[in-house]
Amino acid sequence: MDTNQRLTETNLRIEDEETEISLRPRHLDAYIGQRNVTDNLKIFIEAARMRKEPLDHVLFYGPPGLGKTTLAGIIANELGVNIRITSGPAIARAGDLAAILTNLNDHDVLFIDEIHRLNRSVEEILYSAMEDFMLDIIIGKGPSARSIRLDLARFTLIGATTRAGSLSAPLRDRFGVINKFEMYNVEELETIIRRSADILKIKIDDASTKELARRSRGTPRIANRLLKRVRDFSQVMGNGNIDIDITDSTLCSLGIDGEGLENLDREILRIIIEQFRGGPVGIETIAAAVGEERITIEDVYEPYLIQAGFLHRTQKGRMASDDAYRHLGLPASPEGQMSFRNA
Ligand SMILES: Nc1ncnc2c1ncn2[C@@H]1O[C@H](COP(=O)(O)OP(=O)(O)O)[C@@H](O)[C@H]1O
Ligand SMILES: [Mg+2]
Repeated sequence: MDTNQRLTETNLRIEDEETEISLRPRHLDAYIGQRNVTDNLKIFIEAARMRKEPLDHVLFYGPPGLGKTTLAGIIANELGVNIRITSGPAIARAGDLAAILTNLNDHDVLFIDEIHRLNRSVEEILYSAMEDFMLDIIIGKGPSARSIRLDLARFTLIGATTRAGSLSAPLRDRFGVINKFEMYNVEELETIIRRSADILKIKIDDASTKELARRSRGTPRIANRLLKRVRDFSQVMGNGNIDIDITDSTLCSLGIDGEGLENLDREILRIIIEQFRGGPVGIETIAAAVGEERITIEDVYEPYLIQAGFLHRTQKGRMASDDAYRHLGLPASPEGQMSFRNA
């Protein structure tokens, strides 16, 4: 299946963009879960407001669809300032970033998504901007070139990334607050689904809400997307009300199993088990075998397989757990289990 058609593909698709925006909470009170992150942020926001200072620069990292962009918007909203949204790949040249920075007002939030994908010359502009609210630019070329410094507004940078490890140390060190986003538990996802159903005026019973929550890979974006697909099925096949039968058959038709795994997840586990006796096997080998990019596997698929206990990451590579054998209905390999116990 094409990457863009895959349901659990967590990158934004155009058709979902509009509802995604309408489902985004605007205030901290409506933001479910991630209490490790929000409890502290609440204090920092309050303190910054009291001191009439900008909030310290904030870095969010974690798998896609967990609410990083949403929380950045909420922070700006709670601070009562403007937010300017851009992304690493969108800022091609140092001049592009300079233009964005010089247009910010005091205390504004600049949100840079996929900040690990900034190119080096752009990133270097950020250092003095973040640290001293200064912009160093070079004007002219050759012997007549000179460097000038410009004062910038005292802004807050919020960076988001799926891979904190890909950030250079000098950039990472300039963030005062660094937060990891965790996957959501079933109760939190139920609350999110109920809230979304309310906003979209969808009728869904408790059993279906719970089932969707269980099978959403701990990810709000997927929960919202599944809710919309179940609504489609219930409108065409039923009376528009969502019950457990409609929910179950929708998820089945989409290839999403009882644990929320889709075809590619099962493919990854099956390859590790059947071709490599349960592992350990390197990520590049897995990527080649399933015909998917290494980054996609690492950022989109692996986090949930690890979280759900189907996959283990070891020094020597990835290993399938006993649960993975059981889930796929495959006989446990004694060798695989031995090496897993020793790992
Ligand atoms: N904590 C939350 N509470 C309610 N809804 C959420 C929460 N986190 C995410 N969502 C929903 O999931 C969608 C995806 O979140 P987003 O912020 O775009 O994720 P990320 O930027 O981490 O990829 C949002 O449109 C929002 O509707
Ligand atoms: Mg985002």
